[in-house]
Amino acid sequence: MPDRRHIWGWVSVMTAMGIGSAAAQSPSPDLERLVRQDCGSCHGLTLKGGLGPDLRAERLSGRQPEELAQIILDGVPGTAMPPWRPLLSQSEADWIANYLLSRAPE
Ligand code: HEC
Repeated sequence: MPDRRHIWGWVSVMTAMGIGSAAAQSPSPDLERLVRQDCGSCHGLTLKGGLGPDLRAERLSGRQPEELAQIILDGVPGTAMPPWRPLLSQSEADWIANYLLSRAPE
């Protein structure tokens, strides 16, 4: 389980910054930070895998952004991957999916 307070902290930060409507534009350093901190808590700080699988572009290559955005919004039932729909809009999830697919190797 992610630390809910941590996540709700993010919601207020994101709301305060008005990210909800701006997220579709890129680049979005704030969403990028959310991905590293909140997704990174399971997927690894550099997203190369941990409790959750490797999310680096080279491993996700060939996947559709729509599919990844769906997983981000709805989670994977029966696994630790939580649904992010309460926290992220469709356009934010789309941004994250495209971000994951286009990240340069570190
Ligand atoms: C509490 C741990 C946890 C957190 C936090 C988490 N994930 Fe996951 N995620 C998982 C697990 C576990 C899976 C593997 C589910 C399965 O077995 O199919 C997964 C799967 C995924 C997948 C599918 C990968 C694939 O190869 O099919 C994507 C994409 C993904 N997560 C993105 C994210 C994003 C983006 C975030 C942050 C917004 C995030 N996850 C936060 C645990 C987590």
